[in-house]
Amino acid sequence: MVHRKILTALVFFVGLLAESQAMDALAQQPTVMITGSNRGIGLEFVRQYSAKGWTVIATTRRPMQAKALQQFARAQPNVTVELLDVTDGQHLSALVEKYDGQPIDVLINNAGVSGDFLGSGQSFGTLDYTTVDTFMSVNAIGPLRVTEAFYENIKLGKQKKVVAITALLGVHSFEYGNFPGAYWYKVSKAAMNAAVYNLSKEASKDGITVAMLTPGEVAVEKVTDPGPSFITPEVSIRGMIGVIAGLSLDDAGTIIRYSGKRYDF
Ligand SMILES: NC(=O)c1ccc[n+]([C@@H]2O[C@H](COP(=O)([O-])OP(=O)(O)OC[C@H]3O[C@@H](n4cnc5c(N)ncnc54)[C@H](OP(=O)(O)O)[C@@H]3O)[C@@H](O)[C@H]2O)c1
Repeated sequence: MVHRKILTALVFFVGLLAESQAMDALAQQPTVMITGSNRGIGLEFVRQYSAKGWTVIATTRRPMQAKALQQFARAQPNVTVELLDVTDGQHLSALVEKYDGQPIDVLINNAGVSGDFLGSGQSFGTLDYTTVDTFMSVNAIGPLRVTEAFYENIKLGKQKKVVAITALLGVHSFEYGNFPGAYWYKVSKAAMNAAVYNLSKEASKDGITVAMLTPGEVAVEKVTDPGPSFITPEVSIRGMIGVIAGLSLDDAGTIIRYSGKRYDF
């Protein structure tokens, strides 16, 4: 009887020890925060960083509707889903308070709006001025706002890296892809590049590397008929994670493609 009690207690303590070792191992992994992580490129970042064993803070503006992300997070103890509309100051304050004092190694500013590139609202002659503010607040200002909010957490991180997902349609030296229309998308991404470039100079003084990444043309869920130049999210994100891993302060303020190729502004 006494032996059985000792055995039960032993099994219990071994279980506790294993659990606490697992928690310690999790706590020692780097942490990545990803915006707009419920679908597309953001969701694939979540999947791949989780598979690498990182602690993943996966933010989305609509957690209740984020079915694929929630399903994935339920099966992965290293993924936490958080509410964040990148234009919402209250969401940001609440999340900043929740993560106070916790290091973030890599912040990925991924959330973005594209609209219909060739639609009338983004074509000269019929531009829709009621939508431009959303493009600007999400695409151009969002990355600056989120980075400013979590700056202390990034400073605490070992890796100290911030990236923003840009597009060649927003890059002057690439002649904005020689692509028609898409005015609000191009203008907002170009403004984001300017904001992030300027931020990179200040952040460098704190040892934080800030850079822009272009993912290529990625066949995310919403792309119904991808052309031959499209790549899968798996390939694009694997490439970008490799680029992020190799980032150093020498890369501050640069635009780097998922393949590692660099662009001038
Ligand atoms: N796919 C490409 O070929 C490509 C090429 C170049 C650059 N990019 C850039 O890569 C990023 C991701 O693109 P994607 O193709 O994955 O696009 P996507 O499938 O349209 O996903 C966009 C993500 O951003 C989120 N989002 C939009 N507004 C938001 C807000 N106010 N606050 C928080 N999240 C918000 C969306 O959330 P909801 O689901 O709630 O709308 C969604 O999770 C974007 O910045 C995009 O410009 C993509």
